[in-house]
Amino acid sequence: MQKVRKAVIPAAGLGTRFLPATKAMAKEMLPIVDKPTIQFIVEEAINSGIEDILIITGKSKRPIEDHFDSNPELEENLKEKGKLDLLELVEETTGLNLFFVRQSYPKGLGHAVLQAKAFVGNEPFVVMLGDDLMKDEVPLTKQLIEGYEKTHASNIAVMRVPHEETSRYGIIDPEAKADEGLYNVRKFVEKPDPSEAPSDLAIIGRYLLTPEIFSILEKQEPGAGGEVQLTDAIDTLNKTQRVFALEYTGERYDVGDKFGFLKTSIEYGLTHPQVKDDLKEFILELADELEEKDGAKNEAVGSLEEEIIEE
Ligand code: UTP
Repeated sequence: MQKVRKAVIPAAGLGTRFLPATKAMAKEMLPIVDKPTIQFIVEEAINSGIEDILIITGKSKRPIEDHFDSNPELEENLKEKGKLDLLELVEETTGLNLFFVRQSYPKGLGHAVLQAKAFVGNEPFVVMLGDDLMKDEVPLTKQLIEGYEKTHASNIAVMRVPHEETSRYGIIDPEAKADEGLYNVRKFVEKPDPSEAPSDLAIIGRYLLTPEIFSILEKQEPGAGGEVQLTDAIDTLNKTQRVFALEYTGERYDVGDKFGFLKTSIEYGLTHPQVKDDLKEFILELADELEEKDGAKNEAVGSLEEEIIEE
């Protein structure tokens, strides 16, 4: 059995949900407190045993390449000023086995993944999307790799979502469970209307795929939204070889839209050594202010406040 060594991170989308911030900057560089979202993804890959990472970039993606490169001027400056803790942070993102390729036009996620064909060759590999940050005892990418080691087949991570949100995701039509947390799948459908969704199990941005996906992607016609959809190619792959769905039970932070991004920033801030105390105080003050203003405590702020007080 081949070892899973390679990861592909597509980061060539237009990021329209964050405009105007993403007009001249990649959405993957937007920071959660102080760390660009793409760095969380690279860390998950490395913590899962991945050796080589390909980032698919597009227009305005130069800062991603620079972020993972050395910056001698900055490093020298931090050394001179004795800011060794900051130097360590800056150096953490260099010296990794990272490769870059451009997707010349954002024709969809399936088309982006196709750009990785030469890099991947004839090996199983993982695809990791920057819109979802995951936190679990065993990193989700590692769980998928362990799934591959058992099944020797493609595994796609899924999670239950509210039924009315199925049109935002790829959704699976699950068959009988193959193993604990692992489903056989009848069909993969991209962004179905809730009235037609075969289940509430949504694809959540981590895929372990066999290289046979590439010959399918080469022929894949545009699907939902006029884009070449990875989900459609996976559905075709599932007709010739088994593709399992692995149900993820850890924490997922959706940073692909504004509200999810804000919530994640607050949750991460509440564990960040430099800002957590001030942030807690600020939220408690804010909750009181809102209570005074609205007469009733806003539900979301109220539950966050409870969480903070319980700690
Ligand atoms: P999204 O649909 O979330 O990304 O694609 P987007 O298009 O950048 O964002 P919005 O919807 O306009 O705000 C999921 C992932 O696939 C990548 C994106 O960069 C994102 O990480 N992607 C999407 C590509 O690399 N190329 C594409 O053509 C489309």
